[in-house]
Amino acid sequence: MSGREAAVGATDTVVAVGAVTANVAASAVTAGAGLAEVSAASTATGTGPGKATATAHANIALIKYWGKANDELIIPRTSSLSLTLDELYTTTTVRFLDENREGVDQQNETAHYDRATLDGKPVTGRPMERISALLDIVRERAGINAPAEVTSHNTVPTAAGLASSASGFAALAGAAAAAAGLDLSERELSRLARRGSGSASRSIFGGLAIWNAGHDDASSYAEPLEAGVHGATGSQAANDGATNGTASDISASTGTAFTDEIALIVLVLDAGPKAISSREAMRLTIETSPGYEPWIRQHADHLAEARAAVAERNLVRLGEAAEANALGMHAAMRAATPSVNYLSEASHSALQAVRDARAAGFPAWATMDAGPNVKVLTSAEHAEALNIWLQERLDGVVPGFRTIVTHAGPGLKVTR
Ligand code: DP6
Repeated sequence: MSGREAAVGATDTVVAVGAVTANVAASAVTAGAGLAEVSAASTATGTGPGKATATAHANIALIKYWGKANDELIIPRTSSLSLTLDELYTTTTVRFLDENREGVDQQNETAHYDRATLDGKPVTGRPMERISALLDIVRERAGINAPAEVTSHNTVPTAAGLASSASGFAALAGAAAAAAGLDLSERELSRLARRGSGSASRSIFGGLAIWNAGHDDASSYAEPLEAGVHGATGSQAANDGATNGTASDISASTGTAFTDEIALIVLVLDAGPKAISSREAMRLTIETSPGYEPWIRQHADHLAEARAAVAERNLVRLGEAAEANALGMHAAMRAATPSVNYLSEASHSALQAVRDARAAGFPAWATMDAGPNVKVLTSAEHAEALNIWLQERLDGVVPGFRTIVTHAGPGLKVTR
């Protein structure tokens, strides 16, 4: 959950995005500028604003996104590679209200009429602003100015501390675009979701996905790493991203994708909120950590290794690159001023347990995001046995911990 362990996706949101003030609309023009250039496939369908529901699954980065080249457009410093998970997802309904907004106070810059609930609780403050900002992009693009009502539910095991802004913003992007009558390709949806939260760009796709850093709004999007598997299956489906020269093929002999041969065990060590947002921690790392640029340089090797590993279906190679990349990211954060440390004593016990599991012969590599929980990459074949082994190994060492065994999940699904 990619450091999104406490973000918008975590909340159940019912948002009524109402009349947007003149000023808000104006800023939406700026925010949506990149989207204005998208292809003809994304023009409004003519069905008009209405209501749509979308489900998006959380993803965990194996090769991380940590740091932005452009804060406003959320263009990352590096490309990143992730696995979308079956067990953890967000379902969001967006309804644009059919309201006559005449008489709305057009001078009130802060007036937002969108409303959102997350798991039944109203969303307020910064999380609500982020939802409305994404809705503003959609409204601008669709040429509508209606408030919206957003209702969101996270299907995340209770108190797992794994609610994800990735699944949350991917579902919001899919539902809002469809509700506004936009017919966006998967690539366009990925770009739109990215504007809500960078990691959400990858949750448009199932299985292994790569978010190409790019250099501007149009070039920064995710796509599947393996051709023909786990793509988004929304009603807005023109898939412009599933096949390119980089996607590895499904095994001719077995008919299975490498994606389906891997599993991720989430070690839930602490379900509490994180002390510092990933957005703020990234900024501190970039601005103050002497470890950041060295990590960026290593990152290119980690990503090349991971891509090659997927192409040759080599889990050991993928795991080694993933663990090195995550450890380097956390080391870079630790060297920031003030130091950022998401890892707890329990995290370090879990990391030792993963090394011990490897020594015992299991395929097992750790990755951690903006929180103390440790996720263990393994093979689908060994997942259950490793899960039991880790539970026994950590029992008594980490009080109250639990595990969730996950596999590759599907891409975005949209229904109108
Ligand atoms: C550590 O996507 O939550 O999980 O773009 O600022 O919303 P914003 O950040 P976010 O950061 C995720 C960071 C990470 C690594 C990753 O998912 O690649």
